[in-house]
Amino acid sequence: MNEEKFMKIRLSSIHPSAAVPFDIFVHIGGKFIHYLRVGDFISAEKIKSFERRAPDVFFIYSSERLNYKKYVRERMLSDQLPSREKALILRESSLSMMEELFENPDVNKALNESKEIINEFISFMDQDPEAMGHLIGLSSHDFYTYNHSLDVGIYSLGLAKVTGIKGTDLHDMGQGALLHDIGKRHVNVDIICKSGPLDEVEWAQMQKHPQYGLSILDNYSVSDAVRACCFEHHESFLGNGYPQQLQGHEIHPMARIVAITDTYDALTTKRSYNAPMSPSAALNFMKEKLSTRYDADLLRAMFEVLFQMESVMPLAEAK
Ligand SMILES: [Fe+2]
Ligand SMILES: [Fe+2]
Repeated sequence: MNEEKFMKIRLSSIHPSAAVPFDIFVHIGGKFIHYLRVGDFISAEKIKSFERRAPDVFFIYSSERLNYKKYVRERMLSDQLPSREKALILRESSLSMMEELFENPDVNKALNESKEIINEFISFMDQDPEAMGHLIGLSSHDFYTYNHSLDVGIYSLGLAKVTGIKGTDLHDMGQGALLHDIGKRHVNVDIICKSGPLDEVEWAQMQKHPQYGLSILDNYSVSDAVRACCFEHHESFLGNGYPQQLQGHEIHPMARIVAITDTYDALTTKRSYNAPMSPSAALNFMKEKLSTRYDADLLRAMFEVLFQMESVMPLAEAK
């Protein structure tokens, strides 16, 4: 069977104990094997156990993509599901889309996909005052470019909302944050996945990703804000960032937001060579040790975003 015919999904986006509306396959030993057929059921326990042991092996036919999205949307509109469950479904269904965002050679498709993901997040946030807190509390803290980008997207929407950004600007913010590292598509995968610190040559290549990202986006119709998130998120308020050494307010406000959420995510994420910090330890570290890099007002506002998470989910429970 041809791999392009299949699209990865996360099993935790599936409603336990209800008939599945599409066939679900498991990818084992290079083959796609029918796991569930339309009308079959799967229990919550099984979903949980698969998610722990093998989260990345479930697929549906690519031709069912719209059907799958409709299914996720309907679950998001249900009155029966608590906010936390909805946040989980939205995160999990978006993760499979994010993977495509970074792997799919068709950039235009990826850009449209990123817009759709952000629309879903914003409408969830508009519908449910606890949405942001749960979405943040569920962040994965595992480092893959797409996990990282999704988390930076969510934190950035949270921080942007707290600072009064709305409407089209909020959509641009989300899309820019999702795509901030899209230039990593052109960085050697061994460098991206390296489990230790980078050497000088590798670091020089890694530092080109904002430029690579800009040249990818230059061929497509995206807003200046989205472009800036991609090109300016490693600038530092003091002027010692890269690639342009912009200073303070020369840096686009949305790129200043991504600079904060990007570092926050890196500090709270498990890497093989460092232990993850807790959310509050990471923010305090940024405030005490790195504050000259960031817009001070935005950094203060980030504490408010964290507070939203703590108000719906005690820190001990946050993943
Ligand atoms: Fe980056
Ligand atoms: Fe990043």
